Amino acid sequence: MTQYRLMMLGPPGAGKGTQAKRIAERLDIPHVSTGDMLREARRKGTELGKKAAEFMNAGDLVPDDVVIGIVRERLEEEDAAGGFILDGFPRTRPQAEALAEMGVELDAVINIDVSDDEVINRLGGRLSCPSCGAVYHEEAKPPSKDNICDECGHEGLITRDDDRPEAIKQRLKGYHKQTAPLIEFYEKEGVLKNVSGVGDPNSVTEAIVSELEDL
Ligand code: AP5
Ligand code: MG
Repeated sequence: MTQYRLMMLGPPGAGKGTQAKRIAERLDIPHVSTGDMLREARRKGTELGKKAAEFMNAGDLVPDDVVIGIVRERLEEEDAAGGFILDGFPRTRPQAEALAEMGVELDAVINIDVSDDEVINRLGGRLSCPSCGAVYHEEAKPPSKDNICDECGHEGLITRDDDRPEAIKQRLKGYHKQTAPLIEFYEKEGVLKNVSGVGDPNSVTEAIVSELEDL
């Protein structure tokens, strides 16, 4: 059986979370999202969460050592032994190097390509479930019942703190400066798969799945 060690690369709002969740379900591998883990720590008010919150709310990246530590621990868990899909990690060169030092060789890095204008539009309309993390969009993907999560029934969908216009701008800046260079890094490693993130989410999923067929 193929062991899938995958990673989602792309700007904020590219649809990494939306697609990683679907791919994880299809392949029966854990979805490892550093953004979700950090938000959970912030919600619980742990030391890690408090430290991360100030960076996240401003749209800045959390320091490398903090994120590398949580990913290392997560990948040591039993369910990750047969593969995983990383979402939002690595997003700096030192993080990519740390992952390689952990002995992780990625089989595919899926680079979801969308323009900055599309990112601004998507994040401006995103609604998130504070209970289970499900993601909606005011226009493109509203919940079936207004303000109620389709997945867990929680009432009260929220706008993420970092989906304010100033924070979106800051996140895009950070993406271009620190994360986009990883496209070339993984291209050189021979594992990069480019997929357009524009269009119906189902067609994006199918494009990703077809890229994974030859693994
Ligand atoms: P993280 O949670 O990873 O945020 P991000 O990378 O900015 O990405 P998003 O979650 O905003 O977008 P996404 O690509 O997952 O898109 P989504 O599927 O939601 O990180 C948050 C923060 O945590 C960072 O800023 C940083 O502070 C910290 N952090 C995390 N990891 C870190 C790391 N490794 N190092 C340092 N710091 C770290 O979709 C977006 C919207 O678009 C939704 O509304 C969705 O419904 C809609 N949508 C999705 N697909 C489509 C489509 N095809 N067409 C139309 N709309 C669509
Ligand atoms: Mg996400």
